[in-house]
Amino acid sequence: MAAGGFEPPLNIDDDTNRAIMKTTENMDKEGDIKMKVLGIVCSPRKGGNTEFLVQEALTGAQDRGAETELVTVWDKDIKPCDGCLSCEKTGKCHIEDDVQAIYPKLIEADGIIWGTPVYFWSATAQAKILIDRSYALYVNNNGLTNKVSGAISVGGALGNVAVWNLFNTFFSAHHMLSTDFVYGYARNKGDIHKDKHAMKASRELGRQMVLIAERKFKYPEEYDIAIYRYVKREYGIESRVGRDRFTD
Ligand SMILES: Cc1cc2nc3c(=O)[nH]c(=O)nc-3n(C[C@H](O)[C@H](O)[C@H](O)COP(=O)(O)O)c2cc1C
Repeated sequence: MAAGGFEPPLNIDDDTNRAIMKTTENMDKEGDIKMKVLGIVCSPRKGGNTEFLVQEALTGAQDRGAETELVTVWDKDIKPCDGCLSCEKTGKCHIEDDVQAIYPKLIEADGIIWGTPVYFWSATAQAKILIDRSYALYVNNNGLTNKVSGAISVGGALGNVAVWNLFNTFFSAHHMLSTDFVYGYARNKGDIHKDKHAMKASRELGRQMVLIAERKFKYPEEYDIAIYRYVKREYGIESRVGRDRFTD
C-alpha cells in the first residue's frame, strides 16, 4: 500500500503513475491531500515588515495542515515585461531571469498569498512586475484560474486600499478565487510586530486560505476565463477599442 493508504490503479502508464505517486507524497497520515500555499513577498527590503506578515500567514496555513513555501524578491533578478507578446504564441515568457523559477511554484500552488509594501499609494514595482509577467500564464493556458488568492500590504500611513484594488483586479482577470485582504501599519523593519491586528489577521488569512482551497471551488468550466475574453472567444467580438467593437 502506498503512502497515506493510496493504491495507484493498475494498468496505467509510467507518467501517470509517477504523477499519482507524487500526489501521494503530498498526503497527510489520514490520506488527505495537503494543500500547497505559496507566499510571495514583493518587498525589495530583506527581512521587512511584509515578510513578517506573509510568514505569519504561512504559519496559519501550516496550522491547518498545509505545505508552505515563502518566496522573496529582494534576492532575485526580476525583469519587467518587455511587451514582446511572444507568450501569446508560445504560452511562455522568453525573459531569462528568476521569474522562470517562480512560474512553476505559482502553477503548483493551491493557494497564493501576495504580499507587498505600499509604495507611493500602490504596490511595489516588483509586485507589478510579477503581475505583468503573469500574462504568460494567462493568455493561452489560464494557469492561475481557480487558485485561491489573498493579499497582504504594509504601509507607513496611506495607500493600503489602492493595493487591494490592484490585486482584486488581478485576481479577477485570472479568475482566481479571491479570499481576503490584510493590511498593516509599520515603517521601520520589524515594527509590524507592534501591529497586533495585522499579525492576527495574517495568521487567520493563512488558515482561511487552506479551508477554502480544500473545498476546491471552481469557476464553471464554460467560464474559465474573464468575461471580456469570453465574449471574444464565444462571439468573436474584440474587447479592444479600435478593432470591431464599435462596428456591426
Ligand atoms: C519608496 C517608498 C515609498 C513609500 N510610499 C508609501 C506610501 O505611499 N504610503 C505608505 O503608507 N507608506 C509608504 N512607504 C512606507 C513603506 O510602505 C513601509 O516602510 C513598509 O513598512 C515597508 O515594508 P517592508 O518593510 O516590507 O519593506 C514607502 C516607502 C518607500 C521606501
